[in-house]
Amino acid sequence: MAAPSFSESNSAEIVAERLRNGADGRLPQFLVAAVEHLHRLVKETKPSAVDWRQAIEFLTEVGHASDHRRQEWALLSDLLGVTALVEEINSKRPKGATPNTVRGPFYRGDAPRLPLGASISLDGVGEPLEVRAWVRDLDGHPIAGATIETWQANAQGVYENQQPDLQPEFNLRGVFTTGADGAFHYRTVKPCGYAVPGDGPVGQMLGRIGYPLRRPAHLHFLIRADGFETISTHIYDGSDPHLGEDALFGVKQELVGAFGWDGKQWSLDFTFVMVRARKERAA
Ligand code: BEZ
Ligand code: FE
Repeated sequence: MAAPSFSESNSAEIVAERLRNGADGRLPQFLVAAVEHLHRLVKETKPSAVDWRQAIEFLTEVGHASDHRRQEWALLSDLLGVTALVEEINSKRPKGATPNTVRGPFYRGDAPRLPLGASISLDGVGEPLEVRAWVRDLDGHPIAGATIETWQANAQGVYENQQPDLQPEFNLRGVFTTGADGAFHYRTVKPCGYAVPGDGPVGQMLGRIGYPLRRPAHLHFLIRADGFETISTHIYDGSDPHLGEDALFGVKQELVGAFGWDGKQWSLDFTFVMVRARKERAA
């Protein structure tokens, strides 16, 4: 019998049949789902051939704007909430544990190790902030020897690697290790919120329709300890006016910090709660 011909009513099924004829596994399964959703999108929104060509041109520009320094595809995924959704699905944690958020493009894995109490502000520009933090397990026991990588924007909302000619290398980045009491502390400056890069095709397209591109002020943390799930997260400044509209959907009540001012400097106290790595939890 001849195969049914391609039509509006069976388009996704015809393509899915071809995909299923290939190898088994997650890739064909994923592609079938992607085709079903894509065909549904086209049927619902009925783009003209010109509209569709424009969509393809946009995706082409996203590719051209991506290289080893800039990942415009990741920005598209971040701003449309897909990165946050993948994180939600993959890092479900028990109540009381610190949640993960998007790591973002400004992380560097080569920041210097510093002694407790050191300042990560290499240019001293901004209002001084002392961060005092504790790393504990779900039962409240301190985790000694945890490694904490921290990075943040400066008081103008700009990261050191966005301004290599204006900020000292490794400004506002550092790596610390908790002591026997599970605590770490360091000095820095209060970060400012910022808008995600708006000069590429993604920021320009979303900016045109008034989509929120701002991020409330935050500090980034990547915390590792043997036998525990790595935490990759933010602490947000609870007084930032944009807290309710983070462009990357990262704000959760547990991640909002209270920055206190004593007349001379800001301070922030915060406890991170780690959970045992999954295979140890199951054992
Ligand atoms: C950030 O928080 O550093 C960030 C994350 C994703 C996209 C842009 C910025
Ligand atoms: Fe950030």
